[in-house]
Amino acid sequence: MDKQTFHATHSNSYFLESNIRSISDYLSQQKYLLTNEQISNVEVAGEGNMNCTLRVFSNQRTFIIKQSRPWVEKFPNIAAPVERALMEGEFYQNINNNKDLTSNMPCLLHMDKKSYILIFEDLGNAQDFSYIYNNKLISSEHVEQLTLFLAKLHNTKSKTIENTDMRKLNYEHIYVIPFQNNFINLDEITPGLNNVACDFRTKQDYKHQLQLLGKLYLENGKTLLHGDYYPGSWLMTDNGVKIIDAEFCFSGPCEFDMGVMIAHLLLAKQPRSFVYKIFAHYKKINSFDVKLAFRFAGVEIMRRLLGVAQLPLKYSLQDKHKLLELSYRLVITPDNTLSETD
Ligand SMILES: Nc1ncnc2c1ncn2[C@@H]1O[C@H](COP(=O)(O)OP(=O)(O)OP(=O)(O)O)[C@@H](O)[C@H]1O
Ligand SMILES: [Mg+2]
Repeated sequence: MDKQTFHATHSNSYFLESNIRSISDYLSQQKYLLTNEQISNVEVAGEGNMNCTLRVFSNQRTFIIKQSRPWVEKFPNIAAPVERALMEGEFYQNINNNKDLTSNMPCLLHMDKKSYILIFEDLGNAQDFSYIYNNKLISSEHVEQLTLFLAKLHNTKSKTIENTDMRKLNYEHIYVIPFQNNFINLDEITPGLNNVACDFRTKQDYKHQLQLLGKLYLENGKTLLHGDYYPGSWLMTDNGVKIIDAEFCFSGPCEFDMGVMIAHLLLAKQPRSFVYKIFAHYKKINSFDVKLAFRFAGVEIMRRLLGVAQLPLKYSLQDKHKLLELSYRLVITPDNTLSETD
């Protein structure tokens, strides 16, 4: 899909291109430029797949401009809900009065509903937390900050955000596709993984729980969730840890966000004790169901190994097999404590 396709279906929208002229035209049309402001450079903001996310430099400031389109930016043949930028915008509007949260996210400077465009404060050339998949330890201070942000978010009174289309998309990627034989050739990722996956997919007790958790994921809850609380959404900046990319937000069970966070620490082979630290920090602010958090964590581990959204993991088949066994235990016996060695 391309600019023409976009215009055919969204004739009132502006299609952003990664060049000075396009960005200048758009910003003047939006009356967003300051007096004597001139755009001097445009670059890709960082690693990202879903959207057109650019860093814009002018003679007076820099900022981030993000447009969602009816496809996945990196894979234009894959359709994606175009309204996701507006969902992310709604998330920001809902937390707007909570300084504890806004101080840990970039400021939303502008939202253009017609063109599905958001403009954010530029947090600088910050690294995300993907380094944790690479044999490096996350600090306990960061674990604490990330957990407290989540607990405070979950404590915020918010309007219900359904974000139905993004949830349906994610539902397919979490609860359906990883259990379909032959959807992805996993052997291309790790030789032998296809067979391991086929075996895993025969586990009826796991399948049953997966269905229940999927149903819960699709139900509306009262708690505002980030929806994609993993290391790619956590940035380390000169001003501390910041959270970005709430396009998968929805009102649902707090244990979903917690499960995703826990899963990524386990996928990154961080000390298991960190999981209990997360629970302890979280409990200072909010209550939650430990078993449900473990169950969602188990599913997240599985879908990152067997699904489309792969992580930069350099693991052997045996490592992945072990992680799938861990996923099974988390989903089927979530009341058994995690030990450091299993
Ligand atoms: N406010 C910001 N300040 C600085 N850098 C940012 C900001 N927002 C995004 N970035 C950079 O751009 C990258 C992509 O941003 P973001 O995750 O919001 O886009 P995305 O298209 O939704 O990506 P993904 O496909 O991972 O969901 C981030 O990893 C980060 O490097
Ligand atoms: Mg995103």
